[in-house]
Amino acid sequence: MGARIGIIGAGQVGAAAGYLLSATPGISQIVLVDQNEARAAGEAADIGHAAAFGTAARVSEGDYADLAGASVVVITAGASLKPGQTRLELLHQNLKMTDTIIGQVLKVAPDAVLLFATNPVDVMPSIAVHRYGLPPGRAIGTGCSLDSIRFRDRLADYLGVAAPAIHAYVLGEHGDSSVPHWSSAQIAGMPVTDFAAQLGRPIDAAMQAQIAEEVRTSAYRIKAGKGVSNFGIGGCIARLVKAIVADEQSVFAVSTCMPELLGVRDTCVSLPHLIGARGASAPFMPRLNAEETEALRASAALLSSTIADGLQ
Ligand code: 2OP
Repeated sequence: MGARIGIIGAGQVGAAAGYLLSATPGISQIVLVDQNEARAAGEAADIGHAAAFGTAARVSEGDYADLAGASVVVITAGASLKPGQTRLELLHQNLKMTDTIIGQVLKVAPDAVLLFATNPVDVMPSIAVHRYGLPPGRAIGTGCSLDSIRFRDRLADYLGVAAPAIHAYVLGEHGDSSVPHWSSAQIAGMPVTDFAAQLGRPIDAAMQAQIAEEVRTSAYRIKAGKGVSNFGIGGCIARLVKAIVADEQSVFAVSTCMPELLGVRDTCVSLPHLIGARGASAPFMPRLNAEETEALRASAALLSSTIADGLQ
């Protein structure tokens, strides 16, 4: 018997995550919950038919009561980015609904790991921690795990090197103040810039800035093209859920609540964490150069003030 996974919000992000999770080993049941029950029922049937070609995961629409026994509940409900909007601007639109969802979920699945994909994704876990008393490791924002994949994907394209061979993280906010951690990025145990120089595809300061900008603005460009950004975040959710269900202890740059970081109190930036059955470990603090330290401090300060704004 595999794990039961709840997904709150059967919009494009919830559906993409559900579809990928329906083909993920170790998962036997996926429950989609949405205010729009007809939409949840339609997505559940459609995903269930795709799943029936492969794994035996059952996909159903349901109510909060059907989340009893869930190991992970993914929260995707809420307004998504509109053109010209930043993720932080979604705070007041999505806060109240997310608060209500957390309360409902914890009534029936008090031991579940909560994984937040609703924007601003870094801030939402703070509601579960500060208002509902969840330990920080059980309220995880997908955070910069998506940005880190976008970073590796961009480097892979530029260098012609397979993405899994690239170790590179984006830290800080999943948003405009994100911090690509260039000084730790490696290929074959070498700094990525040394590897790139030997390959004859140098990454100078201008190229670093260009890649960072492309990573930072990925979602805006995707939205401008197709109106929604759903498959990247869907893949990110499915990968994190798999790591939790299989108790992998894999490393991802996700966001959790932190009492203090670089002198900033009460924040929630992405840093590397181990991800396993109990959720996220305490964050690991990588070695940063001076410029990265200042950028991460600024990102932490921005999120700290956003938390204070949301929770007051
Ligand atoms: C993304 O980065 C919109 O946060 C979402 O795709």
